[in-house]
Amino acid sequence: MTETLQSHVDETIGHDRRIEPRDWMPDGYRRTMIRQIAQHAHSEIIGMQPEGNWITRAPSLRRKAILLAKVQDEAGHGLYLYSAAETLGADRAELTELLISGRQKYSSIFNYPTLTYADVGVIGWLVDGAAICNQVPLCRSSYGPYARAMVRICKEESFHQRQGYELLLTMMRGTEAQRQMVQDATNRFWWPSLMMFGPPDDRSPNSAQSMAWGIKRHSNDELRQRFVDMSVPQAEKLGVTLPDPQLRWNDERGHYDFGPIDWDEFGAVLAGNGPCNAQRIQRRKQAHDDGAWVREAAMAHAAKAGAR
Ligand code: 3HC
Repeated sequence: MTETLQSHVDETIGHDRRIEPRDWMPDGYRRTMIRQIAQHAHSEIIGMQPEGNWITRAPSLRRKAILLAKVQDEAGHGLYLYSAAETLGADRAELTELLISGRQKYSSIFNYPTLTYADVGVIGWLVDGAAICNQVPLCRSSYGPYARAMVRICKEESFHQRQGYELLLTMMRGTEAQRQMVQDATNRFWWPSLMMFGPPDDRSPNSAQSMAWGIKRHSNDELRQRFVDMSVPQAEKLGVTLPDPQLRWNDERGHYDFGPIDWDEFGAVLAGNGPCNAQRIQRRKQAHDDGAWVREAAMAHAAKAGAR
């Protein structure tokens, strides 16, 4: 019986069709999908904090409206993704508990501080740019609800990337102090953006199986390289220097070579020791505790409506 079901799954993946919530799927596939979708959802929700930090101090009404819309989009992404995880039998309250108790991961990038308004632009350009690079192929991921959620998410991420780049172009046309702010933010976010793609392929325990299941379409290193190749001309147009003396075009490979990534730093951030890990989790927990009365009221209302 399991063999027949397994061959149905293999055929579905082999023909590039989608696995849907009511379909049989191997336990490992379900576990991997829940893990990836939950980590992704947590990243969207925690990712509201570094930029949310600047909403009250945006330099103009226009910038404030853009930033508010962007941060709200991230909340929406988190919600679609938690819903996609629920289609696999995960419980949203439990996932939140796993996040705030530090038992489930979220993206390393959101553990870095945002020190100036240029960081808002650089996050849009590099962090959302890296997210798009990683997530566009996920629109073809083998799990239907995840793949469909990614279509809308990617459209919105693309707007986020552009607003960031436009903000930076404006700052680069401003004063010397503004240009320095952009350069400084680029220096701080470049390497952590490269780390977003995950460990190198030979140290990525999940990649081979996730690629065989059609969950991931490209390896971590392939996507990282794609991102570097895309970012270099954008940095040139902007007039900033990427902080890597080893960055240069390699004619033979047809790609940019780049310097070594500090995987010890990545490991420390994943272990909870990045600059802002404790603050991010503490704030998420506080928001969750503050929202307890809303959840109770909603449950009471639902129970009353059900009794009618
Ligand atoms: N930050 C935190 N953890 C990371 C990580 C990162 N940048 N990169 C890898 N990891 C974790 C993995 O989750 C895995 O953890 P686990 O096995 O203990 O659960 C471990 O490190 C080993 O890495 P693998 O390469 O084997 O893991 P994956 O095959 O899952 O690949 C991934 C990692 C490429 C991030 C993949 O999960 C993925 O593509 N996820 C979907 C996209 C996503 O979650 N993006 C997060 C950023 S979201 C966002 O960016 C919001 C936007 O507004 C900017």
